[in-house]
Amino acid sequence: MPMSKDFKKRLYLKLPDIVEHFGTPFHIYDEKGIIQTGEEVKNYFSEVSGFQEFFAVKANPNFKILKIIKKLGFGFDCSSIPELILARQTGAQPEKIMLSSNNTSLEEFGWAALNGGCILNLDDITMISKVPKFPELICFRYNPGKRRIGNEIIGNPADSKYGARHDQIVDAYRLAIKRGATRFGLHTMICSNQPKLRYMVETVEMLLEIVEMISTKLNIKFEFINMGGGIAIPYKPKDKFFNMSALANATKRLLAEFEQKFWYKPKFYMESGRYMTGPHGVLVTKVINRMSKYKEFVGVDASCISSMMRPAIYYPDGGYHHISVFEKNDGPFEIVNVNVVGSACENNDQFGRDRELPKISEGDIVLIHDTGAHCYAMASNYNGRLRPKELILREDGDVSLIRRAETINDYFRTQSDFTPEVLRFLEKK
Ligand SMILES: Cc1ncc(COP(=O)(O)O)c(C=O)c1O
Repeated sequence: MPMSKDFKKRLYLKLPDIVEHFGTPFHIYDEKGIIQTGEEVKNYFSEVSGFQEFFAVKANPNFKILKIIKKLGFGFDCSSIPELILARQTGAQPEKIMLSSNNTSLEEFGWAALNGGCILNLDDITMISKVPKFPELICFRYNPGKRRIGNEIIGNPADSKYGARHDQIVDAYRLAIKRGATRFGLHTMICSNQPKLRYMVETVEMLLEIVEMISTKLNIKFEFINMGGGIAIPYKPKDKFFNMSALANATKRLLAEFEQKFWYKPKFYMESGRYMTGPHGVLVTKVINRMSKYKEFVGVDASCISSMMRPAIYYPDGGYHHISVFEKNDGPFEIVNVNVVGSACENNDQFGRDRELPKISEGDIVLIHDTGAHCYAMASNYNGRLRPKELILREDGDVSLIRRAETINDYFRTQSDFTPEVLRFLEKK
């Protein structure tokens, strides 16, 4: 989906200056847009019991972004030790941090317990005996197997490596009780970039059914259900916005029905990443080559692999990102069919294929849209390509650097046998 009119207006006003000052390529995130989305979500869910968003740190682990998220009153869903550290550095309290790791190591359990701990969301029944000091509040990730289908990004639940099986889930809580747990939550995450409201409502229904099944067998109450993330954003121009307000209303109704039956209702948690920040970022890159092969190619100064990855790994069924050319999209220009590519020696290093774009020349500025989530975070150094810088367009219109670009020196730093003279030479450059 093209970036919002408001973001475009504010960014375009300054883009030539930003490009000149910071140089390309860079991701730039829109603080105002992120805050607006956060406030809207809070508003939609204001009548849903104990609603809490735990932003999925993996979606955008830039500390500046996490501080904006914290200010919105949201918590954090972490999947690793560095993400736990980031979340704690924002000042988030233990019960506003969830650790949803999988194939978890003892080291991760150790970090999870530090600083007053966090909500442990266990991914497998075998993990119960491995948690060194079992917390009183425990959550399990539930995998419904063939009961539900997933999509091309996450795969089907029955094939996935996540969560406790349906036939294990009651035993998981039984064993947790034996280890001293007295407070309980239930989590799931079975889809990714899911546009269908019905699917998400069915996920809330599924969680409440599983809560009912476990509560009846073990005579326990659940403090919360956590629907996970997975809500779609409109990447393609014709995609529609997910109806978050309708999800909030349906959740409110389902929780009220649950309360009528059981005389209490669990709180409702969500872990959206993409929905919160995805549309509020663009990658700005400059055209360095125009090449004619069996197709027409536009080569830009960013590599898809080292700056966002999604189009490369989800090709051909997913990973679409809208592409536009700065100051060329609104006029009467000759339209050409091109592939927009990076420089990595990997044929999937293509931001977009067969795109109808206004005729592009070297030096033009190309924008890759919707890079606010799961983009920089997924980038790789494959081919010795370096990650770009990240900027923020602040609410007051100022722009600042929130992560510098990687340098060649960064790339070599972890190699123990690398010649110190070269590193010293690079440091001076
Ligand atoms: C456990 C968990 N929660 C939340 C998310 C966020 O998903 P999304 O950004 O699609 O909402 C992910 C993404 O992979 C995840 O693995």
